[in-house]
Amino acid sequence: MRLVHAVMSGMVVGLAALSAVSCGDSAPAAPRSAAKLWSDEGCALCHGKQAEGTKLAPTLQGKATHWSRESLLQYLRDPVGYAAQDPRLKEQMKSYSQAMPTYKMLAPVELETLADYVLGL
Ligand code: HEC
Repeated sequence: MRLVHAVMSGMVVGLAALSAVSCGDSAPAAPRSAAKLWSDEGCALCHGKQAEGTKLAPTLQGKATHWSRESLLQYLRDPVGYAAQDPRLKEQMKSYSQAMPTYKMLAPVELETLADYVLGL
């Protein structure tokens, strides 16, 4: 009986280890690159593949002068709230049918990747 018990508990430990390895949700996914985020998150659909602007959203090229890394991070988390206290954005928003969506659900490191990307345009 003791042997059986030892074998059984060994199996339980083995199974637990296996499920820990195969359960993708428990380990955080590797952060995505700027290019991947740009397409995955729909930025390209509204702002264009090269952020050149479309009918749905303005160009982001050359906008770095308006932003610091910190203010961009704040903006990506709450674009509409941010624009409400920024006269330039408030005015610009009138030209577009849909508001800039929030990206507060993204991992902080991914928001930083996007902010750095926009600052480099
Ligand atoms: C549904 C369309 C849509 C999507 C998707 C979208 N945006 Fe926007 N974005 C807008 C609109 C519209 C504005 C203009 C808002 C304003 O002027 O207040 C804007 C404004 C911005 C601005 C400020 C532009 C400026 O003039 O300084 C940044 C930065 C930005 N978006 C980044 C992004 C990033 C990064 C993504 C993807 C993670 C993204 N946007 C996805 C519609 C979109």
